[in-house]
Amino acid sequence: MAVGGAEPAHRSVNRPLFARFYTRLSEAADVRAGVGAHREELLAGLSGQVIEIGPGNGLNFSRYPATVSKVLAVEPEPHLRKSAHEAARHAPVPVEVVPGSADELPLASESCSAAVCSLVLCSLPDVHKALAELRRVLQPGGELRFYEHGLAEDRRSMMRIQRVLDRTVWPMLFGGCHTSRDPVGDIGAAGFTDISFRRLLVPKEGPVFPSSFHVLGSARRP
Ligand SMILES: C[S@@+](CC[C@H](N)C(=O)[O-])C[C@H]1O[C@@H](n2cnc3c(N)ncnc32)[C@H](O)[C@@H]1O
Repeated sequence: MAVGGAEPAHRSVNRPLFARFYTRLSEAADVRAGVGAHREELLAGLSGQVIEIGPGNGLNFSRYPATVSKVLAVEPEPHLRKSAHEAARHAPVPVEVVPGSADELPLASESCSAAVCSLVLCSLPDVHKALAELRRVLQPGGELRFYEHGLAEDRRSMMRIQRVLDRTVWPMLFGGCHTSRDPVGDIGAAGFTDISFRRLLVPKEGPVFPSSFHVLGSARRP
């Protein structure tokens, strides 16, 4: 399924501290903040060849349904990629983890039936290029599944905080993450259609963080 070989040097991102922090945080959030259940919903019913961008430590892998024939997971960060390789070994479906970047996918055009983005559009240097790549590698009618966080649309003061954080410390502290992006708007602007989604607060109860405003949904490549 994958084409191409070694990772070009400029595509690699080396974030050992973030990788360690994210591994702990994501494992805890799966259980305590209900993220695991959202991941199940994200992947339910998928089939065929799937591309997942930025899988991190691979927490989605154990949740792919048996109808998926293969997942290609493109992860640029070497420490997270190592954990993803380990997670892939225990996955119920074949998962190949490769180095690379979402804005230059090592795949032929129209080679995938589905694409998965989870908590990743916030961290990409070029979201528009990555979505254009996902559109390229999806077959016509192929499905994009997304679970992302973004702008707190109905909370003005939180939106202001998010924008300030994104211009200052947040991306530096959290591996390039931004809190005020508009994943659904970006997916629509990339030409995906039939967008359907629901909004979620994560965690559902308790403290509200700048990164709490999630969307979970799907769209189609026309
Ligand atoms: C917040 S983590 C999310 C990990 C995982 N998707 C999840 O659901 O837990 C963001 C991920 O995006 C990856 N990432 C950053 N830049 C990327 C790029 N250009 N292409 C693909 N993935 C990238 C990071 O290395 C990291 O694994």
